[in-house]
Amino acid sequence: MEKREAAMSSWSLERKQSPVGWDSHLSRILFLLLLFVVSAQGVTPNPDACLVSHSGNGSSISCQPPARLPHYFPADTVYLAVEFFNLTQLPANTLQGIPNLQELHLSSNQLEDLSAKFLLPVPQLKVLDLTRNALTRLPPGLFQVSAALHTLVLKENQLKVLEASWLHSLKALRHLDLSGNQLQTLPPGLLANFTDLLILDLGNNQLQTLPPDLLSGPLRLERLHLEGNRLQELGKGLLAHQPKLRYLFLNDNRLATVAAGAFRGLQKLDMLDLSNNLLTTVPEGLWMSLGKAAGNMKDGFDLSGNPWICDRKLDDLFEWLVANEGKMFFRNDTRCAGPKALKGQMLLVVARSP
Ligand SMILES: *[C@@H]1O[C@H](CO)[C@@H](O)[C@H](O)[C@H]1NC(C)=O
Ligand SMILES: *[C@@H]1O[C@H](CO)[C@@H](O)[C@H](O)[C@H]1NC(C)=O
Ligand SMILES: *[C@@H]1O[C@H](CO)[C@@H](O)[C@H](O)[C@H]1NC(C)=O
Ligand SMILES: *[C@@H]1O[C@H](CO)[C@@H](O)[C@H](O)[C@H]1NC(C)=O
Repeated sequence: MEKREAAMSSWSLERKQSPVGWDSHLSRILFLLLLFVVSAQGVTPNPDACLVSHSGNGSSISCQPPARLPHYFPADTVYLAVEFFNLTQLPANTLQGIPNLQELHLSSNQLEDLSAKFLLPVPQLKVLDLTRNALTRLPPGLFQVSAALHTLVLKENQLKVLEASWLHSLKALRHLDLSGNQLQTLPPGLLANFTDLLILDLGNNQLQTLPPDLLSGPLRLERLHLEGNRLQELGKGLLAHQPKLRYLFLNDNRLATVAAGAFRGLQKLDMLDLSNNLLTTVPEGLWMSLGKAAGNMKDGFDLSGNPWICDRKLDDLFEWLVANEGKMFFRNDTRCAGPKALKGQMLLVVARSP
């Protein structure tokens, strides 16, 4: 008991809907009592308690309403989740006293800002999940000791802009999720210092264009989500340096133009989603680099929901479709919008006809 008590940190909290004040002494005793009961029985006896479990690595604590938030955490806490509380603020010293923390999950609160000092006490943090909050910015310097952080999830916040400086000092980042924000542009050099990034999710923002050098390296992505934006054009440079890309999501944009060389750098693509765009045609040669080697495109491709004009300009695509038809999703929704004589025909049927 003493060990836990000694090194726990204190919270002072504000809730959006229902500001709460509780007797701190009382609730600390309550928490310690509950910890004791949970350790003894291995189950949570009371909905007011956070779930606490212990492994060889340390304590894991998971709090959701109606649990009351403890004022202190065990010094050996490695996993902490405080979710669905609608907290608008966390004090800068929230994480003090839990230096071994590896994972922090704060999703489904209403956090609007974080202190630049917030992560200073937890240099071993590997996973930070801030899904569904109200962040409009990050303080520069937030990650100054976060060299171990490999997963950063900022999904469904209120980010309208990003600054490269916000991500300074992240050296081990493998997964960056910025989906479901309101980003209209990205700053140049945003990813220039990431060598280990494998998964980049920019889906469901309002991006109309991307900096041409966004993915120029040194990162080697395996998964890229750009779906649900307003992209009109895919240039030949964007993916040129991504030979390891396996999953590419470009669906639900406004793509009308794809450059002939756009996919040339891709050597390992397992899945391509171009559905629900404005593609009427694609340039000759676009497909030749894709789906050739055995095993390529093994998880399929989707070209549905585009207004294809099924004339001779698609011959190249037709040939490729027939060769790869087993991997095609939504054939029934992949139809010609023109010319008149072919309107409504399935692309695959037209492709197969001599
Ligand atoms: C403990 O840590 C090791 C090494 O980081 C990890 O492989 C293992 O899964 C962890 N165990 C638990 C129960 O979290
Ligand atoms: C958080 O806000 C949501 C939406 O307003 C509400 O339904 C929920 O009850 C709130 N939760 C808490 C713990 O206050
Ligand atoms: C990349 O790292 C260099 C050297 O540490 C630094 O000067 C530069 O500002 C960093 N750029 C970004 C976008 O983080
Ligand atoms: C194919 O699509 C048409 C029109 O969109 C629909 O009426 C039909 O039921 C679909 N067939 C299959 C097998 O899904």
